[in-house]
Amino acid sequence: MHDDTSETEIKLLLEAIYLRFHYDFRHYAPASMARRLSLAMRRFGCRSLSGLQERVLHDAGVFPELLSLLTIMVSDMFRDPGFYRALREKVVPFLQTYPSLKIWVAGCSTGEEVHSLAILLQEEGLLDRSLIYATDINPEALRKARAGIYELDRMAGFSEAYRAAGGRASLADYYTAAYGSAVFDKALRKNIVFSDHSLATDMVFAEVQLITCRNVLIYFDRALQNRAIGLFRDALCRKGFLGLGAKETLRFSDHAAAFSEFARAERIYQKE
Ligand SMILES: C[S@@+](CC[C@H](N)C(=O)[O-])C[C@H]1O[C@@H](n2cnc3c(N)ncnc32)[C@H](O)[C@@H]1O
Repeated sequence: MHDDTSETEIKLLLEAIYLRFHYDFRHYAPASMARRLSLAMRRFGCRSLSGLQERVLHDAGVFPELLSLLTIMVSDMFRDPGFYRALREKVVPFLQTYPSLKIWVAGCSTGEEVHSLAILLQEEGLLDRSLIYATDINPEALRKARAGIYELDRMAGFSEAYRAAGGRASLADYYTAAYGSAVFDKALRKNIVFSDHSLATDMVFAEVQLITCRNVLIYFDRALQNRAIGLFRDALCRKGFLGLGAKETLRFSDHAAAFSEFARAERIYQKE
């Protein structure tokens, strides 16, 4: 999938998806996009990318499934616990100085991250005065995030991460077990607005004090990373915080000068 023909075919397919469905994957990292499209070809039994394009444009059932292959819906609660520990210990004291808070979780996927944040804010006495926007482009991910129901067998790992993140209680206090699932308390979601928003095509919608966008920018090329970080810069209030994933950095961004490193190892930045 790395010759000139397939590069052209990938471009044509992504252009077709953009024109037909208004999802803009044209600036995603090429290597990971090529891998995803290989998977999709196998999944839909297509021998070429043009064959896949045919299916996407003419078979109504194909695009939703392709969307789930192209958007990597992997998430965990309290993923990289050091990040949450730093939020709790270093960022929360700043957040506590605001009478009300707006927070944006960009690329929230199936909601594990935003539930983790809600639990942390609850334990720090901030949830009631927070409004959290949890956004993603994948409607299926947003549906799962809104439901707040996860497989019970994931809870042991989540509990361990919660404790490592400095959790003050037991994770089990926040969910009810039922039929092999963990149903998270809906009070955690009362101040969360789940909504469709694309970092590739949409604009800023609110002024916020904290943004987390973790494990999303790694799928974008440099130009799209710059676009997204520009949105974060515009959305953050002065001295607001941006938390990225463990593999992501602002160092090579056009907007690096607009931020300072606040907790370097945990990839937390503060807007100047
Ligand atoms: C690997 S998940 C990360 C989930 C979560 N942030 C975490 O760290 O656990 C990446 C998410 O980014 C979303 N995504 C991909 N492109 C996006 C875009 N242009 N705008 C917003 N979200 C996007 C995908 O739908 C997917 O749910």
